[in-house]
Amino acid sequence: MPTTTPTGVRAGRSVSALICAVAVGAVTACAPSEGAVAPSQAAVAPASQAAVAPASPGAGASRGTTGAPGIGDPDFPSDGNGGYDVQHYDLRLSYDPSSRNLAGSATIQAKASQDLTSFDLDLHGLTVSRVTVDGAAASFSRSKDELVIEPARRISNGDPFAVTVDYSGVPQPMRDSANLGQYGFIPTSDGAFVTCEPNGAKTWFPSNDHPSDKATYDFRITVPEGLTAIANGEMAGTPQTKAGKTTFVWQEKHPMASYLATMTTGKFQVRTGKSDKGLPIYVAVADSFRGSLDPLFTETGKITDYWSTVFGPYPFSSTGGVIDDYAAGYALENQTKPIYGGFSPEPAIIAHELAHQWFGDSLSIGRWRDLWLNEGFATYAEWLWAEHTGKYTADSAFRRYYANAADPMWAYPPGTARSDDLFSAAVYTRGAMTLHALRREIGDEKFFPLIRAWTDAHRYGNVTTPEFIALAERVSGKNLKGLFDAWLFQPKRPATIT
Ligand code: TRP
Ligand code: ZN
Repeated sequence: MPTTTPTGVRAGRSVSALICAVAVGAVTACAPSEGAVAPSQAAVAPASQAAVAPASPGAGASRGTTGAPGIGDPDFPSDGNGGYDVQHYDLRLSYDPSSRNLAGSATIQAKASQDLTSFDLDLHGLTVSRVTVDGAAASFSRSKDELVIEPARRISNGDPFAVTVDYSGVPQPMRDSANLGQYGFIPTSDGAFVTCEPNGAKTWFPSNDHPSDKATYDFRITVPEGLTAIANGEMAGTPQTKAGKTTFVWQEKHPMASYLATMTTGKFQVRTGKSDKGLPIYVAVADSFRGSLDPLFTETGKITDYWSTVFGPYPFSSTGGVIDDYAAGYALENQTKPIYGGFSPEPAIIAHELAHQWFGDSLSIGRWRDLWLNEGFATYAEWLWAEHTGKYTADSAFRRYYANAADPMWAYPPGTARSDDLFSAAVYTRGAMTLHALRREIGDEKFFPLIRAWTDAHRYGNVTTPEFIALAERVSGKNLKGLFDAWLFQPKRPATIT
């Protein structure tokens, strides 16, 4: 169980006790008037984050023709791999909840970014029986969470190649890192709860397990008849049942970070339909949450439609959500279908997870230290939802947090999320406060167009903090280095906003 921040459990929930005194109908209706903001520390050194390059597919220190075992994220040096860029995962999976055995065949279409006589995939546990590269048997070995593959023939820089890995075994979730307790493929009594942020995709399929290498996905998941297997994107055709087993085919046609992939399985009640704006919705709830099926369906459609008016067009082909009966106590923004672990989410949490569809899923960070670009935005979206529904204003939330000078988040600069405390309250709350300070500094008439320009410019791509700062300066025409430095990079409480 997470102790602090992930959505659903953190203390910030109590901010909803604040009530906006003014009835609000639109996002800006409860907005503060644009005030002159003290140019706090405008003379301080420029934001100190620029020295570190983002990870990128194919990056990572290459040694000759050996693909690097990490993609180049300085805080997660063995996550992802170098030497290639994945385009597509074709995952054929069969799961038996009674034995907890997962049998898989993963075909990965990639493109080499250097000459390769060997390269790695990330894989945690499980037994590999066979690997082929472009149809020819390849030799392979295991070293910790790296599957090292030596193709029969050298792959040339720029060439596309396909690697197929056949494997099976009992998946072992990741434990006790990044303040999350367990994550990855978590077996449950009737199936599996699959939530992989930040690096748990490798608990169920061989992958380039880092958000800087996004790819499209096909899933073909076979489970005992009577169970439902839920993955990302949309279902292709009707599930087929044969000899007591049902196969579900799902396709995510938009690029997706590996940690957003899921194959959550169990006994579910399912409802499908469309939002008012015509977007397909798929929601599923474990039997014990039957009463939440219709509310989840309705809120998900309503909130997705609303965010598309605030953040820009919805990036994917469907929206949805899943409530499993595994009591994780937190939620994860799995692409197209956030998952809620053992609780019926209040609208603020649905608003948070659906905001992640833009911030995190469509626009993905290229290195984990930039996590505030996901969690700060999603937390700020909770405040915007509260403004929209008239519950409280973003300004009142900001002031409430600001008032606590002893909050540990002031010692944690959220612009550099730490690998040992990745999902810290600072990344969520101080990240959201950063956006509010920015909104006050540049005014609603620049802030909301900036957010739409941001989602538009980097749709389906990777982003970094310096890119956001640069766009904010361009859209506003202001020098914002002092503001961002104080809010994101200094280990102390910034001067207040006006
Ligand atoms: N991103 C999630 C949120 O704030 C929190 C989270 C991080 C998480 N890692 C996770 C949830 C792993 C489930 C599993 O919405
Ligand atoms: Zn979040």
